[in-house]
Amino acid sequence: MDKTSIEEMRIALVTGANKGIGKEISRQLSAKGLLVLMGARDRQRGEEAAAELRAQGLRVEFIQLDVTSQQSVDDAAAEVERRLGRLDILVNNAGIRLDWSAASELTVDILKETFETNVLGVFRVTKALLPLLRKSTHGRIVNMSSGLGSLTWNTDSNSPLPSRHLSLAYSSSKAALNMITVQLADELRGARIKVNSADPGFTATDMNRHRGQKTVEQGATTPVHLALLPDDGPTGGIFGDGGPEPW
Ligand SMILES: NC(=O)c1ccc[n+]([C@@H]2O[C@H](COP(=O)([O-])OP(=O)(O)OC[C@H]3O[C@@H](n4cnc5c(N)ncnc54)[C@H](OP(=O)(O)O)[C@@H]3O)[C@@H](O)[C@H]2O)c1
Repeated sequence: MDKTSIEEMRIALVTGANKGIGKEISRQLSAKGLLVLMGARDRQRGEEAAAELRAQGLRVEFIQLDVTSQQSVDDAAAEVERRLGRLDILVNNAGIRLDWSAASELTVDILKETFETNVLGVFRVTKALLPLLRKSTHGRIVNMSSGLGSLTWNTDSNSPLPSRHLSLAYSSSKAALNMITVQLADELRGARIKVNSADPGFTATDMNRHRGQKTVEQGATTPVHLALLPDDGPTGGIFGDGGPEPW
């Protein structure tokens, strides 16, 4: 790619982009003319997903990225730096949900594994890519959260959450992720980098054995909107399709 086109084009990196909402976010962003780096931990799954979107005429590239591996994240950051020199948008989409039972039945191992991906993984990737986001004039970080991480909704028996007390590991990981959003957003105001959490809503993907009511096209709408926020847009909030949501 020549230098002029890199300077003109916005560059996004989406983690966990080989399937589900992450793949659809990649499709929607690239359809708007961005260059999208599709992060995936598995080379074959990642390359297949990128090839599928390229066959639709979209500008996407696979990048190997396991959010739980410091080496993998450092290598990915070095590759983006070497090839493109900056990053405009980071969508921290990769996530896992391993628990579907009552809080007292959760094991320490599942809690640790969930936080390793959903919290430490996001922090690791963000820290590694921050120097490249600082080189952008319109940096955006979107953290894929969930209504299940809302303390307000978890303590409201009339809340819109289905089965809100059957996912302590997943829900607490998203609550911790929301704190990363708030504190980074505050710190990065001066750097013109906006940081927001996105709640895609209950979306049919492998994560919930396709029981979600929304399609991936619908689930990707809010994160894509936050990735493309104008300079006077909000920072440090959590948003769903209906607008701001409670912490
Ligand atoms: N679906 C919903 O209803 C819903 C609701 C609220 C929030 N969310 C959030 O939305 C995001 C996407 O979820 P989804 O529903 O699209 O789930 P999904 O279909 O299960 O996709 C999850 C993606 O994350 C990747 N991933 C998992 N661990 C990873 C790691 N260590 N390194 C890199 N990638 C990793 C997976 O890769 P592999 O294919 O290699 O496993 C996959 O690409 C998640 O953060 C989730 O918590 C989803």
